[in-house]
Amino acid sequence: MAILTINGDTIEVNAAPDTSLLWVLREHLGLTGTKFGCGVGQCGACTVYVDGVATFSCLTPLENVTEAEITTIEGLSKSGDHPLQKAWIEEQVPQCGYCQSGQIMKAAELLAQNPQPTRADILDHMSTNLCRCGTYNRIVKAVQNAASEV
Ligand code: FES
Ligand code: FES
Repeated sequence: MAILTINGDTIEVNAAPDTSLLWVLREHLGLTGTKFGCGVGQCGACTVYVDGVATFSCLTPLENVTEAEITTIEGLSKSGDHPLQKAWIEEQVPQCGYCQSGQIMKAAELLAQNPQPTRADILDHMSTNLCRCGTYNRIVKAVQNAASEV
């Protein structure tokens, strides 16, 4: 049994200590906004925050995060109105949508660190997150739009 803090809630989880955080979120807790892409730290679809740092949940064992504050896409904003979420809708960023939770989480980390990023800053920060549908230009535009509001 492990006790986790996820999106501000304290939650008990009955899973082996080496279970990946991604599996715990999706299969044990039903937080399916976080996606399984590659499972090996190559795509960013599984990005969540661990103590405010964007982290690949597929590579994070449960035993490493029992003392941490975890935030998933469900907890990024209470009513889905984070400036990035609004900008994503305005720019119609998603295509299939599969990578987009991870993209938004990674982008929100950037704006928290650097509210006025250059295009180069955005491309550099987002380089850990792949999109098989090639929505990269719309992602950059949406981050720029959100930055003007933050
Ligand atoms: S599923 Fe975690 S990086 Fe791809
Ligand atoms: S929108 Fe399809 S993988 Fe990114």
